[in-house]
Parts: sequence; structure tokens; C-alpha cells
Amino acid sequence: MVSLALIGFGNRAGKYASCLDGMAHIAAIVEPSDERRTYAIATCGFAPARCFSRFEDLLSSDIKVDAVIIASPDKTHYAYARECIRRGWPVLLEKPIASDPAECIELADLSARAGVPVTVCFELRYHPYFIKLKELVGTSGLGRLRSVNWTIDVGLNRMMHSFVRGMWGREKDCGPIALSKLCHDVDLLLWMLPGEPAEWHLKGERKFFRAENAPEGAAPRCLDCPLEKRCKYSAVDLYLRRREWIRNFIPLPGESVDEMLLRILRESDFGRCVFFSDNDVNDTQTITMTYPDGLKASIRMQCVRRNGSRKARFVFEEGEIDAGATAITVLRKDAAPEVYDFSGIVGSPLHAGADREMVREFVESVRTGKSTRSGISGALKSHIICTA
Ligand SMILES: NC(=O)c1ccc[n+]([C@@H]2O[C@H](COP(=O)([O-])OP(=O)(O)OC[C@H]3O[C@@H](n4cnc5c(N)ncnc54)[C@H](O)[C@@H]3O)[C@@H](O)[C@H]2O)c1
Repeated sequence: MVSLALIGFGNRAGKYASCLDGMAHIAAIVEPSDERRTYAIATCGFAPARCFSRFEDLLSSDIKVDAVIIASPDKTHYAYARECIRRGWPVLLEKPIASDPAECIELADLSARAGVPVTVCFELRYHPYFIKLKELVGTSGLGRLRSVNWTIDVGLNRMMHSFVRGMWGREKDCGPIALSKLCHDVDLLLWMLPGEPAEWHLKGERKFFRAENAPEGAAPRCLDCPLEKRCKYSAVDLYLRRREWIRNFIPLPGESVDEMLLRILRESDFGRCVFFSDNDVNDTQTITMTYPDGLKASIRMQCVRRNGSRKARFVFEEGEIDAGATAITVLRKDAAPEVYDFSGIVGSPLHAGADREMVREFVESVRTGKSTRSGISGALKSHIICTA
């Protein structure tokens, strides 16, 4: 059986661990947080002697590792991936490959030269909806593709939790939002459309989540704010009252959920006012890619709606493909719309099973040497574009 090491045992790694289904076993984890290591030992049954706080301790141990899943914070990916490639360990690497394009290129080169495969976690390539959309775009019979308009609404709660108060709010920690969020969207388009864009253009700004937009009298922390009860950005409402986005918070020993949430609201960045959060990543962003035949594909990100969604319109010479939040519709002249309904699976766990399929393919590739559908060489271009 394939022996895996997991680096960074947080949200994503926990999901990948739940997808192994007996195909592989976790020989070791590397996780610097004491709370998370305790959690991994207590709830996932990992042997304490195999839970390391430092990567170097794994390297100097005699634990046999066949492959590694890297799901630690963005800025750590490059150094971990480089060392894994050097040791001949195939890697399932969370996106982004790295935040610096030169580092992305270096890792892709190292992987190719050493013959050590790196699969980038672009799980949406494994999602039934996007697999169907790619197939329809490639075989539509609607003539030349004239334009693509792709919109992504990050969703207000995700925006506040991840990109304002959370881990992807500051460029120094994670690179620009064009990379940390939109690399999925750019990758999907590059994967679906034939050829490669000849030019790309990025434009974005931090329009809304800025101190000067704070309402008069707002306090730095939601717990102390006189406006909290009627504020739609309230962290007290999001975490304490609605109990949303709390899955990744871990209680201290003996702490109740309410006590944990109050501690987080009082002490961590998750309790800060969205207008005073030291965030600096854009909250609106567009990316336009122009193909050699003149085709323009544009991606527009916004964060104004409560629920997130991706939508796209592909306009061909003789019809359109409308990719909605839960269904894809093909519109042909003189024909009834063809509708492909995904409402039963969109929003279901593990990206509608895509995470599981990606992990399965990765483990299989480690066993058999077959390549995966999301190898680093194919994932590189999105990173070059998103960091431009
Ligand atoms: N593919 C996707 O759709 C997707 C979605 C969310 C996040 N991600 C990416 O996955 C990665 C992990 O994100 P997450 O949401 O699981 O975050 P997380 O904070 O839940 O997990 C990260 C874990 O890494 C640990 N860690 C911190 N510093 C470390 C270090 N130096 N070495 C090893 N571990 C360290 C943290 O303690 C934490 O447990 C990020 O790179 C993120 O961008 C990808």
C-alpha cells in the first residue's frame, strides 16, 4: 500500500485524508500547531511518534514515504516541494505551486528533469460539471468561438473569512487574489479552450474593504462594536450566532464551542472589523486573455453576493453555451435548448466528489507511474498569468 506523508494538517489535508478509502495509508504528518497535532492524534488516530512539528524531523526519521501531500500555507509550498522532488517523492501539491512565477517555473523544471511527478490540486478538473462543460465547449458544433465571459462571485462570507480576515488577506502571505482565488478559473479556461492565449491583462483594486469605508462609530473588533447587531459583515453574527465557517476552529482542552468562538472573536484576526483588518488583496479583479485568433476570454471576480457561484457564457458563431450556477444550457439556432442539470450535485461535499477522484488518481499514479490530469507542467501557465 502507498505510504503518504501529509504536510500541514488543516482543512484541505483533513479532506484528502478522508478520501483515501484504504488506497493508501498516512505514514506521517508534519504540522507545527500543537492543537492540530493533538487533534490529529485524538480524532484521526495517528500515532504520536509519527506526528512531527517540523519537516526536518520527518526527513531525519526512518519512516518510509512513497509520496507526499503538501497542504500547508501558500508561502511554504516551494521549499517543501523542492525537497520532496529532490528525494524522489511524487507530490500532490496544493495550489498555488508557489507565489513567485520564477519559483513555479523552477519546480516544474526540477520535476521534469528528475522525473518526479507533481500533481497540482486543481480539483475542479475532476468535477463532473466542469468535465461536461469542457466536453460541450470542445464538441459543440456551433462554429468558431467568439468570446467567453466568466464570472466568479466569491460570496460575501467566504470573502470576509478567507480574503479579508483570514489567511489570504495579505499579499505577503499568499500572493495576489488573482493567484490565490482565480488560478482555478484561469486554469479551467486554459484546460477547456484549445491553444494558449498570446496576451493577458489583469486589473483589480481593493474597493470596498478599506478603513475609509467603515461606518461612523465602528469599533476595531465586532465584539466591542455598537453597530454590530445591524452590520452584515459582523463576525459575531457569522461565527457565534449563525455558526458558519467555524469548521476549522479547534477548541482548547475543556473549552465549549461558545467559549472557543468568544476567544477567537476576542483574540484572533477573525474577530476584527472587515474595514480594519490589515487586508491588502483586491476585492474586485478582472483577467482578460486574448488568443492568437482574436478570441477574448474574460474572468471577472466580485464578492457582493452572500452565496458564491461561478457562471460563464461561451458565444460561438452559431449558438451559445450558458454555464449557470447549477445547469449548463446549449442554445442552438432553431432547436430547443439542451439542458444539463447538475443541481443535485453542485455544492455537495468534497467539490462534488472531485477531491476524492483527484486523490484516487494521484495514489494510482504513485503505484503505476501513470500521469495525472493536473500535472505541474499543465498547471504552470495559469500561475504565470495570475502573477503577471
Ligand atoms: N484546491 C483548493 O480548492 C483549495 C481550497 C482551500 C485552500 N487551498 C490551499 O490549500 C492549502 C492549505 O489551506 P487550508 O485551507 O487547508 O489551510 P489551513 O490553515 O486549514 O491548513 C494549513 C495547515 O498548515 C499548517 N502549517 C502552518 N505553517 C506550516 C508550516 N510551515 N509547515 C507545515 N504546516 C504548516 C497550519 O497549522 C494548518 O494546520 C493552502 O495553500 C491553500 O491555498 C486549496
